[in-house]
Amino acid sequence: MKVRICPMRHEDISDVQQIERQVFPTPWSRTTFEREVERPELHYLIVAKVNKRTVGYACLFYVLDEGHITNIGVDPEFQGKGIGTQLMFDLINYAIRRGVHRLMLEVRPGNRVAQHLYRKFGFFMTAVRRGYYTDTGEDAHIFWTGDITSENYRKILDRVAKQMDRGAA
Ligand SMILES: CC(C)(COP(=O)(O)OP(=O)(O)OC[C@H]1O[C@@H](n2cnc3c(N)ncnc32)[C@H](O)[C@@H]1OP(=O)(O)O)[C@@H](O)C(=O)NCCC(=O)NCCS
Repeated sequence: MKVRICPMRHEDISDVQQIERQVFPTPWSRTTFEREVERPELHYLIVAKVNKRTVGYACLFYVLDEGHITNIGVDPEFQGKGIGTQLMFDLINYAIRRGVHRLMLEVRPGNRVAQHLYRKFGFFMTAVRRGYYTDTGEDAHIFWTGDITSENYRKILDRVAKQMDRGAA
C-alpha cells in the first residue's frame, strides 16, 4: 500500500472531518481546521493519502522551540497499517527543520494504541491534567519528548525509519 503524506489543503478538510467525526467524541469544527491551514507560520497540518483517498491527518502547533501535536487521526478502515507512524514521522521531522526542540501532547489514559505510538517516538508521560477532557471528564496524560534535535533522538527516528522500510518492503 503506497501512502503519500502531503500538506493539508482547504479541499481536504471535508474528508478530514469525516474521519475526525468517526474517531473522536468531540470533533474539531471546520473553522478550526481552516484557521490552522491558513496560518503556516504557527501550524503544520498534513494528510495521508492512499491513491487519492484521504485516510489520515495530523496537526502540529509550534512556537519558537516548542511544538504541540494537537491532533492525529486515521480512518478506522486503515488503522494498524503504519499510517499513524508515517504521520508522526513526517510531523516530527518537520518540527526539527523548524527549530523545535521539544514536543508535547495530551492523550486519554485509556488510549493504549495512541500511547504506544507516542512512546515509540520517545514521548514519555510527565504529568496528569485532571478532568481535561470536558466531554467525558477524563484526565489527560501529558507526554513530552526530550530534545528532538539530539543524537539520541536521531537514533529513535532511525529505528522507526527502519521499521517503516520493513513495512514497505
Ligand atoms: C492512534 C492512531 C492515530 C494510530 O494510527 P495507526 O495508523 O493505527 O497507527 P500505526 O498503524 O502506525 O500503529 C502504531 C502502533 O500501534 C499499534 N497498534 C495499532 N493499532 C492497534 C490495535 N488496534 N491494537 C494494538 N496495537 C495497535 C501498532 O502495532 C503500532 O505499534 P508497533 O509499531 O510497535 O507495531 C489511530 O489508531 C487513531 O486514529 N485512533 C483514533 C484517534 C486517536 O485516538 N488519536 C490520538 C488522540 S491522542
